[in-house]
Amino acid sequence: MFSNLEIKEEGSLTILAINRPAQLNSLDTEVLQEMGKWLGENRDQGRILIITGKGEKAFVAGADIAAMKDMTPLEAEQFSSLGQRVFSLLYHWPAPTIAAINGYALGGGCELSLFCDFRYMKKGAKIGQPEITLGIIPGFGGTYFLKKIIGEALAKDLIFTGRLLSAEEAKEYGLVHMILEEEDFLSSVIKHVKNLEDKSLLALRSAKNTINDDDISQALIKERTLFAELFSSHDQKEGMSAFLEKRKPNFKNSD
Ligand code: CAA
Repeated sequence: MFSNLEIKEEGSLTILAINRPAQLNSLDTEVLQEMGKWLGENRDQGRILIITGKGEKAFVAGADIAAMKDMTPLEAEQFSSLGQRVFSLLYHWPAPTIAAINGYALGGGCELSLFCDFRYMKKGAKIGQPEITLGIIPGFGGTYFLKKIIGEALAKDLIFTGRLLSAEEAKEYGLVHMILEEEDFLSSVIKHVKNLEDKSLLALRSAKNTINDDDISQALIKERTLFAELFSSHDQKEGMSAFLEKRKPNFKNSD
């Protein structure tokens, strides 16, 4: 039914895998719409949810750069709004959510993990917000959640430089909860998540509800407005063209 998602049940857990390995599980409108549909329709089941990526290489390597390259500011605003809406469904999912980071978690992929309650990372995987290297900023909630989770100084470091963190650095920064060995990564994640299975789902739901921020909408509006504005710039077109042509970008640093 979903061409870009693989959904499996494992006891009381559900595993949702983004299934676009040839594009490193990058997120285009279709994937986001499928995620939104599934999350909306299955919310009431309240099952513990693990999100991961198919293939050996990537959790999610970000929003789809080829799909974004020629977007107008209005289209970019709509795309950002869709991503933020879908990820917000995850933030408000009525049971714990776990990002099983099995490979690159970059840009929108890092952001997807930030909306989850737990981040478990495979040894050898990389995480970061490299949007600056494309002439844009994060547009799926990363500016807000990165600052909230690791603090302003480190969030600025990662977003301004675009540098990627190893699992060990991400753990040191408090960005991920646990590093698990490469062998049987998903099985290890499932084993750890099973610690939650015997808890009262009702109490977990209340705990999550209490801890979650009541209103994230203002921060998301500001982010998507600034994200969209950059799509009228030379630097966004140049940054994304350079990535797709596998060359270094030549930024003009003016509108
Ligand atoms: N969008 C579209 N295609 C992507 C992609 C993305 N985000 N990431 C990788 N791909 C594609 C590549 O274009 C390549 O396609 P071809 O085989 O057709 O050439 C394929 O996936 C494999 O990628 P690479 O050849 O680049 O693999 P690599 O091992 O050399 O590098 C990587 C892996 C470091 C993850 C590199 O692919 C990379 O840097 N990807 C982009 C990461 C990025 O910038 N993400 C942020 C996107 S912007 C965003 O997410 C904004 C937002 O907040 C909404």
